[in-house]
Amino acid sequence: MDLFSQIDIEPARKRIDELTRLIDQYNYEYYMNDRSLVSDFEFDKLLRELTDLERQYPELAHPNSPTKRVGGEVNKTFRQVTHRFPMLSLGNTYSIEEIVDFEARTRKLLGDIPFSYSCELKYDGVAIGLTYRHGQLVQAVTRGNGAVGDDITSNARTIPTIPLKLRGCYPDDFEARGEVVYPFDAFEAFNRQREADGDEPFANPRNAASGSLKLQDSAECAKRKLQFCMYFMMLPSHWEAAGDPAGTTELQQSAATHSGRLQAATRMGFKVQPYIKECKDIDEIRAFIDYWDSERWNLPFAIDGIVIKVNQVSLWDQLGLTAKSPRWAIAYKFKAQQVSTPLLSVSFQVGRTGVITPVANMQPVWLGGTTVKRATLVNADFIEKMDIREGDSLLVEKGGEIIPKVVGVDLQKRQPGARPIAYITHCPECGARLVRAEGEAGHYCPNQDDCPPQIIGRLEHFVSRKAMNIDNLGSERLEMLYQKGLVRDVADLYSLSREQLVGLESYDSDGLRRASIQDKGADNILAAIAQSREVPFERVLFALGIRYVGEVGAKKLARYFKHIDSLMAASIEELATVEDVGEKTAAFIYDYFHDERHQRLIERLRQAGLKFTLSDLHITHQLDGKTFVVSGVFSRFSRDEIKAHIEQHGGKVSGSISGKTDYVLAGEKMGPEKLKKAEKLGVPIISEEDYLRMLES
Ligand code: IVH
Repeated sequence: MDLFSQIDIEPARKRIDELTRLIDQYNYEYYMNDRSLVSDFEFDKLLRELTDLERQYPELAHPNSPTKRVGGEVNKTFRQVTHRFPMLSLGNTYSIEEIVDFEARTRKLLGDIPFSYSCELKYDGVAIGLTYRHGQLVQAVTRGNGAVGDDITSNARTIPTIPLKLRGCYPDDFEARGEVVYPFDAFEAFNRQREADGDEPFANPRNAASGSLKLQDSAECAKRKLQFCMYFMMLPSHWEAAGDPAGTTELQQSAATHSGRLQAATRMGFKVQPYIKECKDIDEIRAFIDYWDSERWNLPFAIDGIVIKVNQVSLWDQLGLTAKSPRWAIAYKFKAQQVSTPLLSVSFQVGRTGVITPVANMQPVWLGGTTVKRATLVNADFIEKMDIREGDSLLVEKGGEIIPKVVGVDLQKRQPGARPIAYITHCPECGARLVRAEGEAGHYCPNQDDCPPQIIGRLEHFVSRKAMNIDNLGSERLEMLYQKGLVRDVADLYSLSREQLVGLESYDSDGLRRASIQDKGADNILAAIAQSREVPFERVLFALGIRYVGEVGAKKLARYFKHIDSLMAASIEELATVEDVGEKTAAFIYDYFHDERHQRLIERLRQAGLKFTLSDLHITHQLDGKTFVVSGVFSRFSRDEIKAHIEQHGGKVSGSISGKTDYVLAGEKMGPEKLKKAEKLGVPIISEEDYLRMLES
């Protein structure tokens, strides 16, 4: 670099440093102390300024810049990393007696040495280890099998309660361990959104947290509102303090106890939950356990027990390890909470594919922080296996799951002569005789043409975001269109007119308005319907709602058959050769396309202009033999779109840069590691515009 460009670059460096410091400070106050020092508008302005400068001068961007919080790096696979110090698990028990034994054993082993216990919450999430060197986050790895985990650094960087840079005084090289949790309110909002989009909801916050950390696109992870709860500071036996020297003595003193380390971590900028108590004996430990067993439902996130650790670090070596867990700590796990409540009635729900789900309506009962009055009884087999009878009281449980589960019958409360639950023989919605296919546990209503919940369910699925993405048509409006006789199947949507829509209104049984459509609403609906004609074949296929054909399956089928006609003509054997399509699904697909009603429906959708061929674009070969790595954020495409675009033109997309990479296609906020690697290997880096120009030529 010559002298002139260095002079040029200096003001930018200064401003980048200044903005980084300011934004770090605002973030810290916001996430750690719940304090907003600036308006959202001002904050966004500063962040945008920093993003722009970093784009202009990538070499000046800090690796832990606050712009990393919004994500942008994409991992196709996660690198496996061996933990420097294995991530041990804890001995755990559901029995308070074993906690009493643990305490007595520890006291005996330590003899006259004075010590205490640190009691804290056992967070129910995903364990990760964060490595900090010289105050900078350098790596985040999942626990994995304890010895080797996945490198999830770019996703971890998006979690606001994980500090990217440390404050004050800190050990120069150490690992912060803790659990990534999905707070209840964010989790529930996220699941509602998934259902609205036609995706399967997650069973519990832990699964959702784990799925989020494994997202390939860190920008997606940034939206998930995850939290990191630190529970352990892993320090090698010899360590040095770095950062602010004024804090060195305090840090060294704090490091002598586990609770002191966590307090020190708070000063460094970690979020450490305040629910930690130093206990001196078993009575205090018991009191802590009892308190949290009932109080846990008032926490904003899930816990599944209590962890008890000997607080004095110097005693850990003395107590030693068993094969896989330390002798100086133990976890007490809460039993799932269980109640017994009378079953009032069983109702039967009809799903979009006609599947019948029996639901227990129970005497409302307080369980784990919410009132429970309904729970699924799954299917006829379940009712039979549990031997649920009329007038029974059911045992209902709530563990880490949010959804209560029926786990049995409270036999002590059974009335003599109680009759088994009579399973319905006819559909509660349309009266059709139910069918139970051989080998299937559930019943279903075969009347797909006239059974209202099936019709409305199919419409809902068809318009959902991942399918045809017809905005402005929620359940109420679809129900109204159906009730007014305007829409009976998905093809009818394409012949709706403005006149038919404007002024529509529907009311519920209390006379309250449920749905209505005015001028603007009608225009928006019609525009969205028209727009849906551009939706690619694979999503149209998904939108049809064929049983067991999800988003991914539809993509694979579309890519394999390329055209609906070849898909419709395929034999079960051929269908089953498609990746991820099993025998059972293949048979369903085959039956679906050999049903005349579906053939007519597809013909009408084809007439309406929907795409039933893998788009023509898919078939150019301009990029044949070329391998791309995609990084950053693009202006005309989402990252998935640009990857699909490359593939549609014959190119290959790879997750990591190697000697085989032909181009790195770089958007905004390209990852610095990728940049470095591309430069090192001499791989050309091209912009979105270069890429489009390349295709034009
Ligand atoms: S201490 C050597 N503290 O529970 C000490 N673990 O088997 C190791 N966990 O997967 C862990 N909350 O991820 C500790 N407050 C807490 C915890 C906690 C949750 C998890 C941990 C591990 C499992 C223990």
